[in-house]
Amino acid sequence: MASTTRDYDVIVLGSGIAGLYFSLKAAERGRVAIITKKHRAESNTNYAQGGIAAVTSEEDSIEHHVADTCNAGAGLCHPEVVKTILAEGPARIQDLVSLGMEFSERDPLQAGKKEWDLGKEGGHSKRRILHAKDVTGRKIERALLASIASHSRIDIFENHFAIDLITSERLKREEPPQCYGVYVLDTGNRKVETFRAQSVVIGTGGCGKVYLYTTNPDIATGDGVAMAYRAGVPIRNMEFVQFHPTCLYHPEAKTFLISEAVRGEGGVIKSQSGREFMNEYHELKSLAPRDIVARAIDKEMKREGRDYVHLDITHKPAPFIMNRFPNIYQTCLRYGIDITKEPIPVVPAAHYQCGGIQTNTTGETSLKGLYAIGEVTCTGLHGANRLASNSLLEALVVAYRAAEQLHRTPIQRTGHPLPPWEDGDLSDPDELVVVSHNWDEIRRLMWDYVGIVRTTKRLERAHKRIVNLQSEIQDYYLNFQVTPDLLELRNLATVADLIIRSAMTRTESRGLHYNADYPDLDPLWGRQDTVVQKNTSPQGQRIEG
Ligand code: SIN
Repeated sequence: MASTTRDYDVIVLGSGIAGLYFSLKAAERGRVAIITKKHRAESNTNYAQGGIAAVTSEEDSIEHHVADTCNAGAGLCHPEVVKTILAEGPARIQDLVSLGMEFSERDPLQAGKKEWDLGKEGGHSKRRILHAKDVTGRKIERALLASIASHSRIDIFENHFAIDLITSERLKREEPPQCYGVYVLDTGNRKVETFRAQSVVIGTGGCGKVYLYTTNPDIATGDGVAMAYRAGVPIRNMEFVQFHPTCLYHPEAKTFLISEAVRGEGGVIKSQSGREFMNEYHELKSLAPRDIVARAIDKEMKREGRDYVHLDITHKPAPFIMNRFPNIYQTCLRYGIDITKEPIPVVPAAHYQCGGIQTNTTGETSLKGLYAIGEVTCTGLHGANRLASNSLLEALVVAYRAAEQLHRTPIQRTGHPLPPWEDGDLSDPDELVVVSHNWDEIRRLMWDYVGIVRTTKRLERAHKRIVNLQSEIQDYYLNFQVTPDLLELRNLATVADLIIRSAMTRTESRGLHYNADYPDLDPLWGRQDTVVQKNTSPQGQRIEG
């Protein structure tokens, strides 16, 4: 199949907050290609309701924010990383505002002066969540896309699926490991193109679709982690998958999140019989850290043999609810639920990947020329459980620092010729059914065996199945023409395998990882991440500082 080569200074994979913000900064120096597998606005960011946690009020301090982050992180946050990222938060918020982002403000008549309306979410000791009502992500995405639209140095390639990184190993070059570019499938004409650049930045988001129930959109198939893993880059802490406690339970609602901000404004979790059970689990009750709330709901649902619990905010005035949560109010109403009058049926669902590609706070990976930013990474900020609304902040700060790092790197245009992509030349109608069958099987086995509560036996069972599935998928991948569905399936299987193996390695329960056979914290694991790299088993890695 004929292949063309496109040359840029930087290639950015993904068009969420991290990729877009980075691109704006990187374009100050060079030409940037943004590669995104669907429409440019289709990203996890677009669905973020809650907001961005940052210290902007006089009643708050960086020290408080650091303490809350580390408490949620259950002993695995990297202290220097936490301080660096949180300290730079306020500057990045100002930058976002200067790019046109409008956060909700308090009623000027009540406050006497213009002030942001700061929200509260689980695990935060202060009000510090900047938001745009309950559609924060959508507004940020729009502001960034508007700034990029007129930028002469940024090209966006929509419906382009990044398949694999082009590395020195792949090219069989005897030299220190380096990344030279990416093979990309143009899903419109089904041709694979070669993109070449001095720097490649992965900002492809998370992997919620690896689970049967998730708050994530369909694009969240773990593409970046899988690609980096295949290129030999260390992947860290994949056992820590965050389940959001409150996803709408309704047969027709696929993935609708009920923001934690609803609990921040007084929403209470109750059993279907009306019992407020969270006080039996944590002093912060419905606003306890997410891992605790999700596990408590899971236990109560099993105890009562129910498919969902309730989130009740009906005690608040209806105009307040409708004004603060217009998107949640309208969406629930479409499903026949008036949240001002009746409780919302909710269930936990996979929401956020706390582990990912190992990077420092400037987004650098172990592979020269390869950076990663946003949810796809593990910088050490989140530890064993992410504090709510810290993710958009991390994406902004690390994207900015990565762009600064790039500006300090001398430009080299080596122009090494890169070989064209070689594809299997078969196409087979049978493929479709195999892809959809394996896709369903992976998501169900992850939900049943590698979910909120794990056991060693379930993890072993899941491991056996994923090994078989991976070999079947690899067979297909090598012999047939690549399609977006096949590529996503291959990535999903890789990420499932990484989650399972990391979870088997951590023989304790900590933060988001709960193994009923090891129900306690193990001090030996207390300062250790799990790290897994191609051709090796996952290992513990001591946390510095
Ligand atoms: C939410 O609005 O509950 C999600 C916020 C987050 O995941 O940080």
